[in-house]
Amino acid sequence: MKTTLITGASSGIGFELAHILADEKSDLILVARNKEKLLDLAENLKLKNAINVRVIAKDLSQLSEVKELVEELKNEHIHCLINNAGFGYFGPFNECQWKTTEDMMELNMTTLTYLTHCFLPKMLENSGGKILNVASVAGFLPGPNMAVYYATKAYVLHFSEAIAQELKGTGVTVTALCPGPTESQFMDVSGMGESKLVKGRKLPTSKEVAEYGYKAMMRGQHVAIHGWGNYMLSVLPRLFPRRLITMVVGIIQQK
Ligand SMILES: NC(=O)c1ccc[n+]([C@@H]2O[C@H](COP(=O)([O-])OP(=O)(O)OC[C@H]3O[C@@H](n4cnc5c(N)ncnc54)[C@H](OP(=O)(O)O)[C@@H]3O)[C@@H](O)[C@H]2O)c1
Repeated sequence: MKTTLITGASSGIGFELAHILADEKSDLILVARNKEKLLDLAENLKLKNAINVRVIAKDLSQLSEVKELVEELKNEHIHCLINNAGFGYFGPFNECQWKTTEDMMELNMTTLTYLTHCFLPKMLENSGGKILNVASVAGFLPGPNMAVYYATKAYVLHFSEAIAQELKGTGVTVTALCPGPTESQFMDVSGMGESKLVKGRKLPTSKEVAEYGYKAMMRGQHVAIHGWGNYMLSVLPRLFPRRLITMVVGIIQQK
């Protein structure tokens, strides 16, 4: 039986990925802060699929807690690592609270990189493994009114692509999943639900995005952009001056 570690499994895309992996009969380790939600999910998945599901509640924006998680898992062989936990922060940079900004950078970038660094060696020893890093179409663009979030996703995208190339031929694949705006708690947590970009728009569901990401991970695709509209957004910076693109993103991301 294979084991999958999913961060941010208590809601949205991570929650749906947990269902998909459970249907594929993978044992699961589910991590997020909300222990009750994780326990509910674990009970459901165990009943339905006869798999082992372990729940570990941690605040992954705190490196000390990330290190505790790694220590708890030091004897586990993680076959599949899904670095999904992340959040956004909507608003002009000068109005953003530093603590929230710092936590977002820690969670979206440092934790993802650290967990990859910790679990990759065993995957390489076993000549196989899958890593899915949830980036965003935001990773292709500068994002006025969400400047730091967009920049964290550019990091995730470039980091993932680079190590995917380094790992070619090892049996370990790395996929950067790049959703566009998606229906989940993300909109409320980030405050982005108020922006022109998403307000009143029908968004893809977390389930659709999770299914797309799972298939891309299984194929070992390096970058997986969900939806043709998001694909078009991702190529814009190659077709038009960066300054123009930044201005347009700034306009559609106003309240
Ligand atoms: N929704 C979108 O429009 C969209 C678009 C592109 C990319 N993404 C990316 O997709 C990923 C999943 O987001 P989602 O849309 O599914 O949003 P979501 O519904 O808000 O889910 C985020 C998950 O991350 C966990 N999380 C947040 N902060 C955490 C922390 N400090 N420590 C541990 N876990 C934490 C949350 O659990 P707890 O609150 O229980 O900790 C939750 O399980 C994120 O990386 C996001 O950046 C989302």
